[in-house]
Amino acid sequence: MAVRPILKMGDPRLWRVAQPVTDFGPALASLVQDLHDTMAAASGAGLAAPQIGVDLQVVVFGSGQPNPRYPDAPVVPPTVLVNPVLTPLGDAQQIDWEGCLSVPGLRGQVPRWQRLRYQGQDAQGQPIDRTVEGFHARVVQHECDHLLGTLYPMRMSDFTQFGFTEVLFQNLA
Ligand code: NI
Repeated sequence: MAVRPILKMGDPRLWRVAQPVTDFGPALASLVQDLHDTMAAASGAGLAAPQIGVDLQVVVFGSGQPNPRYPDAPVVPPTVLVNPVLTPLGDAQQIDWEGCLSVPGLRGQVPRWQRLRYQGQDAQGQPIDRTVEGFHARVVQHECDHLLGTLYPMRMSDFTQFGFTEVLFQNLA
């Protein structure tokens, strides 16, 4: 168990398409622990294996309690998601603020599917199949994008809504 360095945008390892997990043994358990430790140390809402340089389809997200980086966001259950498959439900999209531990100090308005189904496995290889919406759906899309080599600025359509957190939110308490 360890807090690992988080790769920042510009590192070519963040552009890879991650490999599927086939071995649900101790190495995966160790990776998941490192992801949890690293996410907690950074107060992240989620973290994907490529962000610590591991080329595997593993993401963790949620906390079960309010996140200090997103204090007004709904609570998302703590989840380990391996080999995810996302299926948007309906055509509705929502635009809202996102940040990323690999893009520190910045926030941007990102369009995402409002509702989706996600499937995959947990850290023990047991199936996960959930239908979610809103912030939970946004977090899943953001984290799973990391497995496709995609960072949130690449999903943005209006770059006037992209900037430094301390400037964008300077009038907020
Ligand atoms: Ni991210």
